[in-house]
Amino acid sequence: MKIGFIGDIVGKPGRKMVIKHLKEIKEKEKLDFIIANYENASHGFGITEKNAKELFRLGIDIMTGGNHTWDKKEIFALLESMPLLRPINYPKGVPGKGLEIVEIDGEKLAIINLMGHFTMPMVDNPFIKIKNVVEDLKNNRIKNIFIDMHAEATSEKRALLMMLKGEVSAIAGTHTHIGTDDLQIFDGVGYVTDVGLTGCRDNVIGMKEDVPIKKFLTGLPGRYDIPDKCKKILQMVVFDINEGKCNDAYKIKAYDEEEYFISQKAFIEK
Ligand code: FE2
Repeated sequence: MKIGFIGDIVGKPGRKMVIKHLKEIKEKEKLDFIIANYENASHGFGITEKNAKELFRLGIDIMTGGNHTWDKKEIFALLESMPLLRPINYPKGVPGKGLEIVEIDGEKLAIINLMGHFTMPMVDNPFIKIKNVVEDLKNNRIKNIFIDMHAEATSEKRALLMMLKGEVSAIAGTHTHIGTDDLQIFDGVGYVTDVGLTGCRDNVIGMKEDVPIKKFLTGLPGRYDIPDKCKKILQMVVFDINEGKCNDAYKIKAYDEEEYFISQKAFIEK
């Protein structure tokens, strides 16, 4: 199965890039299943029902969240009614779920949303949690396992790969909004530390730059905002998975209205 993962979709500019490019990418690359991270999709903070419906209509099959999952109040109802995940390592009793199992051409695929610790809300230990979840999936003969590791620290994402090498099919990082160039296949696991944002590219992590600059100059808080006009980028990683192993992985980019292109092929670690 060939799955595509779009990193953090940031605000209207990000959604516009999905509208412009996803249909063509899905068709040309023969993608069976599309996953995307929604946590910044509605003006940078969470997701509304309207925007979720729009993104699913465009061909996204399931969406993952993160620390901004809760920013729009309607998310509590949406987590029940739509294929939206929130990090699996929130404590017991928190609404929603962090794992979904789907079937693609008779093959099962588990999609997991996990959240790191560094600078993140206080959630359960992601490493202990995921070990148990993966073990359960394996006991239930589910081999194809995809993880969106939503985390700030590159070391946490890398440690997750090392801990789960040979055990899962793909680990893709989100949250930093900055794509990293370490796309690889390590012991059958397709991996990238961060996919990078889909949204505005000519500012600070998809947001107007004046607020973060002021914040860094003065230490004073400010409200982050999405620019009305900007230069845009779409970033996506494709994982080709068979029998639980990732055989091929590559990154797709698109700038504004220009044709999409493959920007990187995964290095296969022998
Ligand atoms: Fe985040």
